[in-house]
Amino acid sequence: MADTIVLATRNEAKLRELGRILAGNPVELIGLDKFPDAPDVPETGATFEENALLKARAIAGFTGLPAVADDSGLCVDALNGMPGVLSARWAGRHGDDQANLDLVLAQVSDIPDRRRGAHFACAAALVAPAGAEYVVTGRVDGWLIRERRGSGGFGYDPIFVPDGFNVTTAEMTPAEKDAISHRGRAFRALAPFVRAAPDRVNP
Ligand code: IMP
Repeated sequence: MADTIVLATRNEAKLRELGRILAGNPVELIGLDKFPDAPDVPETGATFEENALLKARAIAGFTGLPAVADDSGLCVDALNGMPGVLSARWAGRHGDDQANLDLVLAQVSDIPDRRRGAHFACAAALVAPAGAEYVVTGRVDGWLIRERRGSGGFGYDPIFVPDGFNVTTAEMTPAEKDAISHRGRAFRALAPFVRAAPDRVNP
């Protein structure tokens, strides 16, 4: 029988992405929509790893199933790595992608092209109810352009060009972005642990 793993998100796109990465493995992936009363876990950690673990622990505890959670964000060199873990609420309101992007663009408007480096980072955690914990990270390096380009993706994608490309991640297809993205890399690094049937692994 397939092991069931719960992905600690209500975001359909993340569920599909992890589903694509785990395709062919004997794992049944379900989302938080199956647990309407699951707690909303505040992202109070100082790092992506801490936040991913906080969410995965809370959801494994609530559901009694192994849980996968991720946390991600944009780290801008000229802003000393910010917005970082504050990426989703950089302009003050959680999830206001337009305002967050506009604020970052304004903050780096005087920064010359050679110093516009940035990266997306993602931590993905797997926590089993018995206590085993795994956390891995992925990143994609690139730079920030000065005006939005592309309509795909979300968040800061319209202003982020990955190294080695001349399109933004908002101009890529989902498959092209998955292949190089911070989340794709982190989820792929977590896949072997997910395959190892973590509900039967003790700490
Ligand atoms: P979370 O991991 O869902 O909490 O996302 C944190 C925030 O980081 C999002 O709201 C976006 O602003 C930003 N972010 C994370 N991953 C991406 C990405 O792949 N593209 C663009 N923005 C991203």
